[in-house]
Amino acid sequence: MKTSRIPGFYNMTVEERRALVAKMHTFSDEEMNDLFSTEPLPVETADKMIENVVGTFPLPLGLGLNFLINEKEYVVPMAIEEPSVVASASYIAKIVREAGGFTTEATDRVMIGQIQVVGCPDMEAAKEAVLKEKAALIEDANAAYPSLVARGGGAEDLEVRILNEEATSPYNQMLVLHIYVNTCDAMGANIINTMVESLAPVVEQLTKGKVYLRILSNYADRCLARARCVIPPELLADDEYTGEEVRDGVVHAYEFAASDPYRAVTHNKGIMNGIDPIVIATGNDWRAVEAGAHAYAARHGQYGSMTTWSVDEKGNLVGELELPMSVGTVGGAIRVHPMAKLAHKILDVTSAQELAQVIVSVGLAQNLGALKALVTVGIQKGHMALHSRSVAIAAGATGEMIDIIAEKLVDVKEIRVGKAKELVEEYIK
Ligand code: MEV
Repeated sequence: MKTSRIPGFYNMTVEERRALVAKMHTFSDEEMNDLFSTEPLPVETADKMIENVVGTFPLPLGLGLNFLINEKEYVVPMAIEEPSVVASASYIAKIVREAGGFTTEATDRVMIGQIQVVGCPDMEAAKEAVLKEKAALIEDANAAYPSLVARGGGAEDLEVRILNEEATSPYNQMLVLHIYVNTCDAMGANIINTMVESLAPVVEQLTKGKVYLRILSNYADRCLARARCVIPPELLADDEYTGEEVRDGVVHAYEFAASDPYRAVTHNKGIMNGIDPIVIATGNDWRAVEAGAHAYAARHGQYGSMTTWSVDEKGNLVGELELPMSVGTVGGAIRVHPMAKLAHKILDVTSAQELAQVIVSVGLAQNLGALKALVTVGIQKGHMALHSRSVAIAAGATGEMIDIIAEKLVDVKEIRVGKAKELVEEYIK
């Protein structure tokens, strides 16, 4: 019964949802205890992960449903504090699955390591000297991480650039080496950093300069994932709006983001609402993904929309999202964080490329969810209904009282803690 279409999941209790997921993914009792325990990340483990630990900081973990990607079903673990995000992604995924699902692809996972060299007496000669030894440098890089080569990856190429050839200060002229490394299923930061650090002494000898920075570039533009969906307008219609109205509104909204950085930042924030929660849940470095994604959105010279939305010759709405996606399915926090292990088990991807493709599909769905709401009833209706639950909790509501107070807040259109406190007092009386 491996499906991501689970009608009524929303209305189940947390225990019922856990039992269902455990059954679907055949978790053992031990895994259930470990993975759904009240202390999902033991503080002793946390203390080994970072410094100065005093505790852990849990986030809600929800499941994005209905995702059909390249004809495979995905239940998507999402760790996020913001209401509406999981519901909206699942809602759009349901529409897209009726249209045949998402189609995706990914490039090879080639990450970039940078080495900065300054003070070379002759920049052109230094560049040539490095390029002459390219094969040997690639070999040295691989010797620094032989287990990657054994897994079928490794350093593949090397390029050299001179920055600020017409130097205006002694600080700004430099030689920059890029080493391109296929990191297989690892995100690759440690691999790359080990490689570039190991190359520094020989690079200094070749260039007669001084090496300063030796570090991974998070602009992973050779490690891309793409998602696409094609939606007939009738699937976008609801009681109040025709499918064509929604479709055209979405394309207008996209054109706004494509033309205006003020709108693009918010538009893209909505995309990252879908992306970050999976990146976090799967134990990956969401700052790296964020940094790369935003830089990619500015690759044409002006910061713009990460997605594109258009109308095809049949009148369908066509959405696309392509982003650098430096995520892994092995190594890092994935090895130690019990919840990340759970997320991988639920997601059931077999490679980092597959994970990257799921992530961009959810980003695309999230964007459409936000745009569809924005071009019709507005974002507040759905958002505030969910937000009202947090407000009710903040005002002291517990158990069944939470939903009752939340509904009343929506009815009176006053979603404030002050109002919620009044309602809680009345309820208790
Ligand atoms: C809110 O978290 C995200 C949105 O602002 C995205 C958007 O405006 O497209 C709704």
